[in-house]
Amino acid sequence: MTMQRDTWDSKLGFIMAASGSAVGLGNLWKFPYITWENNGGAFVLVYLGAVVILGLPIMMGEIFVGRTAHLSGAPAYKKLGGKGWSKLGYLGAAAGGVILSYYMVIAGWSLYSFWQCLGWSFGGYETPSSDAFGTFLGNGWLQIGLTALFTLMNAAIVLRGVGRGIERATRVMMPILVVIMLYLVITAMFMPGRNEAFAMIFSADFGRMPAVGYLEAVGQAFFSLSLGLGAMVAYGSYMKKSDSITHSAIWVVSVDTLFALLACVAMFTIILSVPELKAQVTAGEVGTVGMLFITLPQLFYTQMPGGVVLAPLFFILVAFAALSSTLSLGEVVASIMIDRRGWHRKKAVMITGGIVFVGSIFAALSLGASDALSSVTFKNVPVLSTIFGTKTGILSLLDHLAANWLLPVGGLGTTLFVGWFLKNDFILRELGIKNSNVIFNLWIWCLRVVAPVAIVALIIAVATGKDFS
Ligand code: PFF
Repeated sequence: MTMQRDTWDSKLGFIMAASGSAVGLGNLWKFPYITWENNGGAFVLVYLGAVVILGLPIMMGEIFVGRTAHLSGAPAYKKLGGKGWSKLGYLGAAAGGVILSYYMVIAGWSLYSFWQCLGWSFGGYETPSSDAFGTFLGNGWLQIGLTALFTLMNAAIVLRGVGRGIERATRVMMPILVVIMLYLVITAMFMPGRNEAFAMIFSADFGRMPAVGYLEAVGQAFFSLSLGLGAMVAYGSYMKKSDSITHSAIWVVSVDTLFALLACVAMFTIILSVPELKAQVTAGEVGTVGMLFITLPQLFYTQMPGGVVLAPLFFILVAFAALSSTLSLGEVVASIMIDRRGWHRKKAVMITGGIVFVGSIFAALSLGASDALSSVTFKNVPVLSTIFGTKTGILSLLDHLAANWLLPVGGLGTTLFVGWFLKNDFILRELGIKNSNVIFNLWIWCLRVVAPVAIVALIIAVATGKDFS
């Protein structure tokens, strides 16, 4: 079914909405903790390389497909490439469902942190004990409840259609998030751990990075930039032909990367400035997975002027950053049923949302509430151990599956589609360029050779047992 597409209200519309999709828990939650686990510097450098060499060209490729087809997901690939290529859209929707099912659980933590900060703002801050976060994770009903709340918020918005609503909301919230983030970083700059944090993040010592870090960085680039499942195809489909794909992609990639780095600087500085926290994190007593939710309140309440107001506000914005990402995922998943089966949006959102929520329940209980779900692992099962590595627990397994397999394979599909299947003349005509120029050539050759070779190398590395989620 072909649909007439809306367009973004303004030139900034795409940039804001796409940045909203990209900036999320991947930047604020995942990037700092995997950077810590990989010992910083060298990992950050490899990540930046992956963003420039893979992320930027593939983002431009996805936007190109959406903008040209004026459709999202499978129908976009089908329109430009025929039925066979539409499988890329279905793979994307499946990846979106997998990511949503655990992303919702972590997004729910931001609601809890907001609530907790309200309590601290009114009743005074108490440093939580080192096992407080573990206890929270192990509370199954609480995890399911928070996940359900977030799922409902997401469904309520996707139900209305993402066009204008997302654009307006992101236009207000993204700048506030930038300002608070900068204020956090500036405050952190007055803390004693600053130099150690900078050294850890910005001086590369490749000897200290585990080999798997190379691969983990690439997976994170896909995840953080919302690539490999068609989110940017969907948002590109609302773009006007007069808007520049290159400029828009550069903006989104820069905003996303800046957020990730700032989050890292703030969190590392706090951890390295507070001796008890440093000892606990280094000894592995405080799981790095909860870094965002453990370390930042410490800064707000103990160091920051105005922290009592800013702490709850910050976690509302984290929830918002997560929501603007889950909206794009929800749209990718629901639109498959709308486009393919002709379902009403309401039916599509309710049914796909319900299925994803069932998956979320398993993820929510895999953090300690259910022993069976928390300890499930495939590390000794042939074939499955190749796919899931040494990960343990449903949430980690799903994250591994999405970052290691589904997104890179989806990204590879896009590089082949735009780089090899579509004809140069066609692309140039769509872009309104007469003759290929340097930027065009760089882009196309990245898509043709550099990106596919890097992704295939990555897939081979995973297939031979490397773990990088
Ligand atoms: N980019 C989001 C984040 O960093 O949190 C996660 C995400 C959103 C991945 C949308 C993929 C996607 F299509």
